[in-house]
Amino acid sequence: DDLRFAAQAIREAECAVAMTGAGVSTGSGIPDFRGENGLWKTHDPADFHRSRFEANPGDFWRDRLEIDAARHGEHVAPNPAHEALADLETRGTLDALITQNIDGLHTKAGSEHVIELHGSSERVVCDDCGRRLAAAPVRERVRGGETPPRCAECGGVLKPDVVLFGEQLPQAALFESHALAESADVFLVVGSSLSVEPAASLPGTAADQGATMVVVNLDRTRLSGRAEYDFRADAADLLPRLAAAVNGG
Ligand code: OAD
Ligand code: ZN
Repeated sequence: DDLRFAAQAIREAECAVAMTGAGVSTGSGIPDFRGENGLWKTHDPADFHRSRFEANPGDFWRDRLEIDAARHGEHVAPNPAHEALADLETRGTLDALITQNIDGLHTKAGSEHVIELHGSSERVVCDDCGRRLAAAPVRERVRGGETPPRCAECGGVLKPDVVLFGEQLPQAALFESHALAESADVFLVVGSSLSVEPAASLPGTAADQGATMVVVNLDRTRLSGRAEYDFRADAADLLPRLAAAVNGG
């Protein structure tokens, strides 16, 4: 069946690359953006724009604290989808994991070669000097009334180290992702609606140079028509079965 054939393609690949989106973390209790209970049903994407941060970093941080408590709190843990991807890497099958997620859950699950295209909620960055710090103590300072939090080195405003709308992606991460899309012979897309550029174009790049495309997503995506294997499934259910089929031979 399809699961067995997809597993065989992954096992035999010289270079297998996965790209994940918010759908890989819904099983950890983090709502996605555009799905049925997506964040954009209750929040305005404009609040996640660079211009809002610039206009009023204090308000930006106050909102962010609330959102982060729900989405990136201590209670959030990897689910079987993250674990299956980590397992595939540990066994030498998966070469790299590109993620649009900022939740850090792939790393927590044990994945090592993780490329975070949209940054990480675990860090903050000084908007002036670029110094990076762990986010947790800074959130504590914001809770204590320091809005906005400032850099101890230069006095610049600290910002969550995530890509806001209106900001560039980290160039090294984007460059490496492109190189991987160009050399992958299997490209696995998990839990992404593929609606935000430039990440959304990476699977097309892989498909153009002949990679076997495997999609695991609850809803149809714009890649579905080009995918050899298009699993309309819950990632937390399907990925462990796929990984077992890869490992089981
Ligand atoms: P989306 O919310 O756009 O898409 C998530 C996809 O995952 C949807 O198509 C869902 O059907 C699917 N999905 C949800 N739960 C699933 C599950 N358990 N198993 C399988 N599929 C599931 O999220 P992304 O594509 O990640 O960027 O969104 C991309 C970017 O848009 C985000 O990184 C964020 C957002 O704006 C920035 O903020 C810069
Ligand atoms: Zn600074």
